[in-house]
Amino acid sequence: MPPQAFEINRLRETIQTRRFGKEFVFLRETTSTNDVARELASKGAPEGVVVIAEMQTAGRGRLQRRWFSPRGGLYFSIVLRPGIKARDAAKLAFVASLAVAEVLKERYGLPVEVKWPNDVLVNAKKICGVLVETEARGEEIGYAIIGIGVNVNIDVEKELPEELRASTTSIMNELGLEVRLDEIFKYILEKLEDLYEEFLRSGFSRILERWKRYAGFLGKTVEVSSGSERLQGLALDIDHEGALIVRLSDGGTRRFLVGEISLRTKPRN
Ligand code: BTN
Repeated sequence: MPPQAFEINRLRETIQTRRFGKEFVFLRETTSTNDVARELASKGAPEGVVVIAEMQTAGRGRLQRRWFSPRGGLYFSIVLRPGIKARDAAKLAFVASLAVAEVLKERYGLPVEVKWPNDVLVNAKKICGVLVETEARGEEIGYAIIGIGVNVNIDVEKELPEELRASTTSIMNELGLEVRLDEIFKYILEKLEDLYEEFLRSGFSRILERWKRYAGFLGKTVEVSSGSERLQGLALDIDHEGALIVRLSDGGTRRFLVGEISLRTKPRN
């Protein structure tokens, strides 16, 4: 059976947001919802416009990776105009991954973890990714696009390429049943709006404290890759700017800013 379609009309009737989703652009298929949202933002689209697609043909992830986007997944991007400094933009990814983590735990009972800087995992496998892209305007950002992809009703074994199967999961694979796309999207958008408003009102520290509750990699040995450099160490903390603090084997500490870095948790040996 093909996965259920996204019921956009039901969503329009039930969504309870203040600033997000006043306008939805709903597409059966597109290259990347981030591309569409950027195009709209560059033409002046206001904060809160949301682009959703049932499928993406050129979904993108961080570090120039592909994001496989078959039907059954949730793929959307939001236009934001937060009026923050460019160097604070990475904090938006924490807001977004926290929103998804809390929804997966509170609404679907999944044992979620977050992985720095912005992945959501279930049973050590990736279930959601977040891609934040910004347009700089001097020191501040003109707009930011938060793109979120969640593996919802996807059978990972059948639908994703072999090299991703061992490290990826979906809600359907975890729960053994399909969930409604419009419903999970509504929960995530409402939660994201609450957390985003808290971030604008009160700053990053409370968001980060909440995010760290799910950060199972803290206190564990991790491997950090940045370009050709590969380092192992103990993940000590995430600081007030969202940087990862690692204690290296020589006893020194190093701080990694969100950027061209990927992180792997090392199995205990
Ligand atoms: C990552 O894990 O590297 C981030 C993945 C982000 C995927 C989402 S799906 C919706 C939006 N459109 C894209 O092309 N990418 C993001």
